[in-house]
Amino acid sequence: MTDARREAQLVFNGLAPEYDRSGVAYFGPVGERLVALVDIGSGESVLDIGCGRGAVLFHAARAVGEHGRVVGIDLSTAMVEAVEKEARERGLSQVDAVVGEGRSPQFPEASFDVVTGGMSVHMLADIPAVLRACHHLLCLGGRLGLSAPATVDHPAPEVFGLRSIARFSAAHDAGSGIYPYAEAFGGARRLRGDLMAAGFENVEIMEEPAFISADSAESFLRWTRTHGMRKLWDRVSPEERCRAERAITAEARARSERTDRIVLRTPVMYVTASRPPLDATTGLSDRGRA
Ligand SMILES: C[S@@+](CC[C@H](N)C(=O)[O-])C[C@H]1O[C@@H](n2cnc3c(N)ncnc32)[C@H](O)[C@@H]1O
Repeated sequence: MTDARREAQLVFNGLAPEYDRSGVAYFGPVGERLVALVDIGSGESVLDIGCGRGAVLFHAARAVGEHGRVVGIDLSTAMVEAVEKEARERGLSQVDAVVGEGRSPQFPEASFDVVTGGMSVHMLADIPAVLRACHHLLCLGGRLGLSAPATVDHPAPEVFGLRSIARFSAAHDAGSGIYPYAEAFGGARRLRGDLMAAGFENVEIMEEPAFISADSAESFLRWTRTHGMRKLWDRVSPEERCRAERAITAEARARSERTDRIVLRTPVMYVTASRPPLDATTGLSDRGRA
């Protein structure tokens, strides 16, 4: 296992109990939007890469229904155990979660109608190889849906709606996948090229606003320690931490779109693409293969 992978595993194992469960809405609504964009239907089979606590996976499970199948894969054992537990408690027999490497999920070719990666695939090394793996796992005509906390085609002066977080992130880059001054996936142009090279068609790369909603500036601040940004907090001195906390809470209050709670607008990149229904190499259609 590489050092980067071991570090990601440790960080996300530690985050799993609180990740997306601290009472702040962001990952769940983004996951729901991704499921709608990729148009997951009843009875379909879905692979969710980097499933975390299931922000995409549980919306996908509702969309496929009891006759469908959703498999989440994540390198964090704690995330996978939490998803399995929640699926059992909610009686979702269509859900499975497995510990594994998202760069090269070990399933036979054409195993899934849909592959999703919510706020996860942009963090993986060697994006072209990941996209080729996704293409291989999709049935002919199958769809891919990805999201990332990023703008499309222009650098963001803000992270999670705030300049103070962008400054903090830029000063302590921790490879967290939070990009203040560069685009996820190396930018839309490069991503489009990588998707086409992997064999995808109908590529759409779009940006939409999402809203981070917390009941107070303090809850919002606590939330920043429950996801990848935790890596930044863990590496600064106590003095610097105090300064950043003051700047973030003050700006969150000042920029909030509501006065009775904190609501911050932030861009999300959504990507959809499909594997062609006719295999260019074999000439087989989905029906011909079945
Ligand atoms: C920011 S979270 C996103 C979780 C979820 N999809 C969501 O939208 O909330 C990223 C997830 O990717 C997982 N992850 C990071 N690197 C990975 C890798 N190489 N293989 C599989 N999972 C990985 C982490 O453990 C974490 O659960």
